[in-house]
Amino acid sequence: METCGNPRSIFQFLVVVGITLSFLCNLPTTHAEPSTSRNDTKKENGPPQKLLIIMLDGFRWDYYDRQKEELPGFSEFLSKGVQAQWLEPSFPSNSYACWTTISTGVYPEVHGILDNFMFDQQFQAVFDFKNETSVSIEHWWQNVEPIWITATRHGRKALLHRWSSCDVPFDGLEPETCMSYYQHLNQSIEEGYSDTEEADLDAFRIAFQGLQLDYDIIMVYVESIDKFGHAYGPDSPELMEAVRHVDNALSLLLQEIKNAGLENNVNTVIIGDHGSTFVGQGSGTKIVQLSDYINASQVYKIVGKGAVVGIVPYAQTKKKVYQSLKGGVGFDTYLREEIPENFHYKKSKLVPEILLVAQPNYLILRLGDGEKQIPDDEPPAMKQRFKHFIPDGIHGYSNMTDMRTIFFAKGPAFKEGVAHPPIEMVDLYQIFTHLLDIPSNPNNGSWPRVSNMFSSALPTKTVSNLWIITTITFSTLFIISLNFNSIFIQ
Ligand SMILES: *[C@@H]1O[C@H](CO)[C@@H](O)[C@H](O)[C@H]1NC(C)=O
Ligand SMILES: *[C@@H]1O[C@H](CO)[C@@H](O)[C@H](O)[C@H]1NC(C)=O
Ligand SMILES: *[C@@H]1O[C@H](CO)[C@@H](O)[C@H](O)[C@H]1NC(C)=O
Ligand SMILES: *[C@@H]1O[C@H](CO)[C@@H](O)[C@H](O)[C@H]1NC(C)=O
Ligand SMILES: *[C@@H]1O[C@H](CO)[C@@H](O)[C@H](O)[C@H]1NC(C)=O
Ligand SMILES: *[C@@H]1O[C@H](CO)[C@@H](O)[C@H](O)[C@H]1NC(C)=O
Repeated sequence: METCGNPRSIFQFLVVVGITLSFLCNLPTTHAEPSTSRNDTKKENGPPQKLLIIMLDGFRWDYYDRQKEELPGFSEFLSKGVQAQWLEPSFPSNSYACWTTISTGVYPEVHGILDNFMFDQQFQAVFDFKNETSVSIEHWWQNVEPIWITATRHGRKALLHRWSSCDVPFDGLEPETCMSYYQHLNQSIEEGYSDTEEADLDAFRIAFQGLQLDYDIIMVYVESIDKFGHAYGPDSPELMEAVRHVDNALSLLLQEIKNAGLENNVNTVIIGDHGSTFVGQGSGTKIVQLSDYINASQVYKIVGKGAVVGIVPYAQTKKKVYQSLKGGVGFDTYLREEIPENFHYKKSKLVPEILLVAQPNYLILRLGDGEKQIPDDEPPAMKQRFKHFIPDGIHGYSNMTDMRTIFFAKGPAFKEGVAHPPIEMVDLYQIFTHLLDIPSNPNNGSWPRVSNMFSSALPTKTVSNLWIITTITFSTLFIISLNFNSIFIQ
């Protein structure tokens, strides 16, 4: 059509724009290449960057800031690293569900480890985190690959210490070295200590040993903060002292890393799995007694306790049980299909038919019927210590400030002394693969939410892809325009 102008001059114009643009796009890449390419860093600095992940169970997001004057180790770490305002746990904010989100980058509805307690109706199988045999069954763990398997698959050597389920093979693969939580427990009992502080020191010691050997990824687990949080509450002097002990161990580790000249070869990420909220005496926490609403004879299983409880009714009693619970005081009752989308929970096939989620300041107690209740008994230590078997601090709640935890990171890949906006637990897996320079499996993380924490704004791969796409697009346009030119010349 005549109104469209001369096709030949349009294509000539496009060619000029194309060449100019690909030149301009190319320029920043060429400039950025030496600092952004981790391959280059590796060549210049010799050994590749190692990744050390330290998980501090139950380290609430504000534990550092509220006593930072007493925590020189963390302060030193953060002065040269990145501190996310907080790390938002996945739902529910309980250890096993969160650990698996940390290691896979997907929500519990995708990885299928829904809580510390689960029941698989099809296989009549119980998952109880206090029962080593039950959690080691491979069947629970086969939905999504954890980071240590992704690393192993790509030839990275992994060392895991006290890390839950690292002893469970995935797709026939196992990490180079794994001491599972229960193996360590047995060993510490054999060696005559079961003291948490000693176990924490072990974790930091092993982290340093791993850095000196040829491991690429080292993951260690530290339990004491969670234990003290449960036993004495998140605001107790006992908890604050436990934080100082961890700080001390961290100081020693940083010094050792420095002395060994490894500082520029290690990216260290310190995370927690959830926070803790005070429910002890004086907190005003109210108790939900399930027996006020339902009868043990009406249900098949009751899964869990505290903040989140699953109910497996009989087919005939489902409606009645639901109606009795719905509108109960201090908790929300959902049929499986009613569970809010943003919990990212309901799509797993292990979700019980009815889910109860306690509101803040409420706590759901067991129904008290042994064999129907998972877990079927309270640990003896709890019975001795706590009236009603209620600890002073708990977690598991949805969307509560006290459930937030930490993300601290430092090393050559990270910016220095930076406060970062909050990130989510599903974001961690892609951070780990980025640091290991290996591809990520599909996950629920958001790259834009984390990309600013790295010393290079974008991973090399993305930059080069952009450049390749630009080049291909404009080369194609160039070739097309040449063809059109020849048509018009004829
Ligand atoms: C790094 O080098 C390896 C081997 O030389 C190569 O396969 C890989 O693609 C490179 N990665 C990047 C991000 O350039
Ligand atoms: C632990 O779990 C295993 C496997 O599910 C089960 O056979 C065993 O009875 C459980 N042990 C206890 C003490 O409940
Ligand atoms: C730990 O010890 C218990 C009891 O002796 C045993 O049943 C279990 O298999 C041991 N676990 C590991 C991982 O060694
Ligand atoms: C539970 O069952 C008992 C005996 O069958 C009955 O007396 C009681 O009212 C029931 N409670 C509820 C809440 O349905
Ligand atoms: C979390 O709670 C806050 C306030 O209580 C609310 O504004 C927000 O929408 C909630 N977020 C989700 C994901 O439920
Ligand atoms: C989470 O990631 C999985 C795996 O890629 C995907 O199947 C699922 O749809 C994602 N969920 C959301 C809410 O994006």
